[in-house]
Amino acid sequence: MVNVKEIVDGIFYVGASDRRLGRFENMFPVPDGMSYNNYVIKDEKSVLFDTADNAVCEQFVENVKACAGDKLDYLVVLHMEPDHASTLLSILKEYPSVTVVGNVQTFKFMEQFFPETATINKMVVKEGDSLNTGAHNFKFIAAPMVHWPEVLFAYDEKTGALFSADAFGTFGAIDGSVFADDYDFDGKELAEYRRYYSNIVGKYGCQVQAVLKKAAGLDVKYILPLHGPVWRKDIKKLIDKYDLWSRYEAEDDGAVVIYSSMYGHTQSAATLVAAKLSEASGKNVEVYDASGVDVSYLIAEVFRCKKVVIFSPTYNMGIYPAIESFISHMEALTVQNKIFALGQNGTWAPSSGKLMACRLKELGNCTVLDNVLTIKSALHPGDEEMVDEFVKQIL
Ligand code: FEO
Repeated sequence: MVNVKEIVDGIFYVGASDRRLGRFENMFPVPDGMSYNNYVIKDEKSVLFDTADNAVCEQFVENVKACAGDKLDYLVVLHMEPDHASTLLSILKEYPSVTVVGNVQTFKFMEQFFPETATINKMVVKEGDSLNTGAHNFKFIAAPMVHWPEVLFAYDEKTGALFSADAFGTFGAIDGSVFADDYDFDGKELAEYRRYYSNIVGKYGCQVQAVLKKAAGLDVKYILPLHGPVWRKDIKKLIDKYDLWSRYEAEDDGAVVIYSSMYGHTQSAATLVAAKLSEASGKNVEVYDASGVDVSYLIAEVFRCKKVVIFSPTYNMGIYPAIESFISHMEALTVQNKIFALGQNGTWAPSSGKLMACRLKELGNCTVLDNVLTIKSALHPGDEEMVDEFVKQIL
């Protein structure tokens, strides 16, 4: 059944959501599903912005046909990643004479995925070029490496709508409303926006800063991303978060505690430290077991907090694997501007603290506190002073 919603002045949402997907990119858990957004412009010339994931092909094509009718003049491809582009051929089959709009790299990637697109009608654009459809005029903005090289944004001078590709998106299906102001952004939604940003785009802070500077010169009234709801109110709130995250600045001066534990002793120490930090700071300190929580959630918390307390058992004379994986993810995403406090456990040769410190000191502008909390098998009442000193150092 067709499910289409007008956003503003002839711009229609025609996307669809997948609630059966377990992991986005076969990597990130999406317990609330995933949306794939598309927009049709009904004007003197009609336009479709992007295609969708194969999983929602039937709904997507049905929506497009209902909205655009028998003729589609342009298909704009802002981003070639297959979660959007995998249904490209389905649209080309419905509208074989459509002109596909993209930049030079868009068409290079398109032919890598679909060699049969070599002969389609193309309009090659670059930053500053426009697509005029009658009442609407779409200006193209290059957004390289946010988070693929070919990414384009498009800004509609008539409505102030910014088509932002993957930027400003989030995990989760679209519920009844397509508008972000109908969701609880400051609660659960913000956590998912942060997890999406930090894991999908987090490595490319410089590139996000560059495109934010370009967007600052525009009167943006709507943000239409490729995932998640459409923004029409409080847009600055989301842009401010992107500014913070892309500068790798924490939202919160507080701490998060992340640990792995084989038999519960390291967990006991991590929990005690979190309790003492909470008591001293007067606010909750979140605790995560890296062995049981997907690393994407840990990365999101690292982006949120200034201080990161990590506890690892010593395992095969190295860092415990789940913590090692967490550190590798932080390295890959170029985490910066953090203060790390480390706890290590070992029955005969605790060494994970030193090994973690070596890795974390290499991250940009990060401090690793000197005082490593060393647990020899388990903490005991006589260790209280040592724990208090560790907590004091973090505070
Ligand atoms: Fe949503 Fe980079 O694809």
